[in-house]
Amino acid sequence: MQLKSRHLLGLEGVTREEIVSILDTADSFKKVLERPIPKVPTLRGKTVVNLFFEASTRTRFSFELAEKRLSADLINFSASTSSVLKGETLRDTIQNIEAMRIDFVVIRHSAVGAAHYVSQCVDAAVINAGDGAHEHPTQGLLDMMTMREHVKQFKGLKVVIIGDIKHSRVARSNIHGLKAMGAEVGICGPATLLPVEIEKMGVTVYSHIEDAMAEADVINVLRIQLERQKKGLFPSIREYRQLFGITQERYNRLGKNLVIMHPGPINRGVEIDSEVADCDASVILNQVTNGVAVRMAVLYLLSGGRPKFEGEDHE
Ligand code: CP
Repeated sequence: MQLKSRHLLGLEGVTREEIVSILDTADSFKKVLERPIPKVPTLRGKTVVNLFFEASTRTRFSFELAEKRLSADLINFSASTSSVLKGETLRDTIQNIEAMRIDFVVIRHSAVGAAHYVSQCVDAAVINAGDGAHEHPTQGLLDMMTMREHVKQFKGLKVVIIGDIKHSRVARSNIHGLKAMGAEVGICGPATLLPVEIEKMGVTVYSHIEDAMAEADVINVLRIQLERQKKGLFPSIREYRQLFGITQERYNRLGKNLVIMHPGPINRGVEIDSEVADCDASVILNQVTNGVAVRMAVLYLLSGGRPKFEGEDHE
């Protein structure tokens, strides 16, 4: 099915049918990416601006590559080399860029609601590449695409998200997306890093990491944002690792297979040991690979493309 919205601002409110449509289309684009010439002319003549007001490795390169694979023209904006430094507002910045005729805006910003705000200032389609602690919808989609490659079905699947849920846009997009798909979602982390009344999102809260891992089919381990320690939200990195870390010892003791995920960047030896992050059950790099196909699918569907891209060869 076609997407209901012109923009992708979050996974809250996105239906199961829309998510399936995006994931099926991403599967088609993954096949394109495996061809000798991994490129199609689908977005030729369209222009995308990548507006990154915050640091990024995976999301930024993944969007850039997706746009190039679709033959779109792209321009990259970096706040540190722009007129934002001279005091230009977000509204003026985006309206001036749109005056150069663009079709898509991909935006990452530290402010919750920045993508939504931009969608009200321009005619271009807006894709949220992460807005503060709110949502990171393409990360949620690439996580679900990766899960779908490793599990039979979402219905009844137990996914536990571990770590700093409170400040995590990845957690929020995963919860909305996975609930829409019929999965059971759990969360586990220090009480100070869990949002108030998180149960209202329909998730199970685990206080002990051993219980969470024993119940889970998939664990999605979040980066511990080290600056939170300075704010006193957990006592020490060492104690966090002892209580909530996916250590090699803890994983070996579990005695069952899990699908192990992490959105990156990883703090090795803090939220997850290197031996676990790099073991056969880890799909962390598969997530990154799938990110390009998911972002191609989102750009293609928002441009009016029909689901399940049937394939056009590049000339
Ligand atoms: N997963 C993710 O958003 O990574 P980046 O911050 O490197 O884009």
